Amino acid sequence: MAKFHERVFSGVQPTGNLHLGNYLGAITKFVALQKSYECIYCVVDLHAITVPQAPRELEANTREVTAAFIASGVDPVRHIIFNQSQVSEHAELGWIFNCVARVGWLNRMTQFKEKAGKDRENASVGLYSYPTLMAADILVYRATHVPVGDDQKQHLELSRDIAQKFNNDFAESISRRGFGDGYFPLPEPLIQGPATRVMSLRDGAKKMSKSDPSDYSRLNLSDDADAIAQKVRKAKTDPEPLPSEEAGLEKRPEAQNLVGIYAALAETTVAAVLGQFGNANFSTFKTALVDLAVARLGPICTEMKRLQGDQKYLDDVLKDGADRARVIAAANMRDIKGILGFIR
Ligand code: TYM
Repeated sequence: MAKFHERVFSGVQPTGNLHLGNYLGAITKFVALQKSYECIYCVVDLHAITVPQAPRELEANTREVTAAFIASGVDPVRHIIFNQSQVSEHAELGWIFNCVARVGWLNRMTQFKEKAGKDRENASVGLYSYPTLMAADILVYRATHVPVGDDQKQHLELSRDIAQKFNNDFAESISRRGFGDGYFPLPEPLIQGPATRVMSLRDGAKKMSKSDPSDYSRLNLSDDADAIAQKVRKAKTDPEPLPSEEAGLEKRPEAQNLVGIYAALAETTVAAVLGQFGNANFSTFKTALVDLAVARLGPICTEMKRLQGDQKYLDDVLKDGADRARVIAAANMRDIKGILGFIR
């Protein structure tokens, strides 16, 4: 396989209620990766409209995600932050990938099954082909590394399958144009650390999600200190004290979740947290967790609110990012069209 220029790409949907799962599963990774990679972070508004969105809310939510990236420490000058719809090459490559991916592959996607629910006939076609657009997001930049939470693993595997099939189907044309034995890299998912799957605070069997009707199920990045304290205190637990070994967390999903959250926020391991809090009761542990969550999330919440008050700045960041992203995407799209046999 050819050697590819290393590049990070990831995306977050502007669908409101940005929460601790998004922060620990994805955004903290975005920040850390900036040190070693060239990074492109996208607010995926084209993905958001696979389910109905009120236009005014979509605008506000797009700015909210942009503010969250910047407030968390993503640098929009050295790296790229933009919203997907400003770079039309995403949709263009998405169509091409609709013609590469197989119906059987999409039929296996568990997220579609969950989101479409029982009324599948009434789901949008976009919701069904969502993963081909996601593959296009990544591959239009020929990105090599993709930081995501655990729930996106299957979509990343599909992106790799699409890249592989394109490389195979067009091998002769790719090599004739001097791109060696593959035009697309097989993008590598980066799913690491103690909080790749943050669970609901009300039910340790359910993922923390933007769409859970109970606001007590999640810590939102927009929550103030009082809200954080209340939600953590009300978080579901069991009657036992915390174990001192990791094995003791088995079959205790709520305890496991809170300890994982603590470890991620403290940038340490689950074993180290249990070393400190083993045999403690939940009220002691929750008090420490509230202090830690407020210390970590409080400044981000304040900075997000400040940035959200400066709409022009946020819109300028997105436009500037889109202009720079488009340069890369357009050059790659030219190659891709040539490979396919489209006259340019
Ligand atoms: P989205 O908007 O649902 O979530 C954004 C990121 O947050 C992660 N995440 C979680 N991590 C841990 N615990 C949780 N409870 C939790 N909930 C969400 C997600 O895994 C994701 O990393 N399809 C993507 C957006 C997307 C994308 C892309 C990502 C579109 N194109 C290309 C990577 C590359 C999504 O819906 O994320």
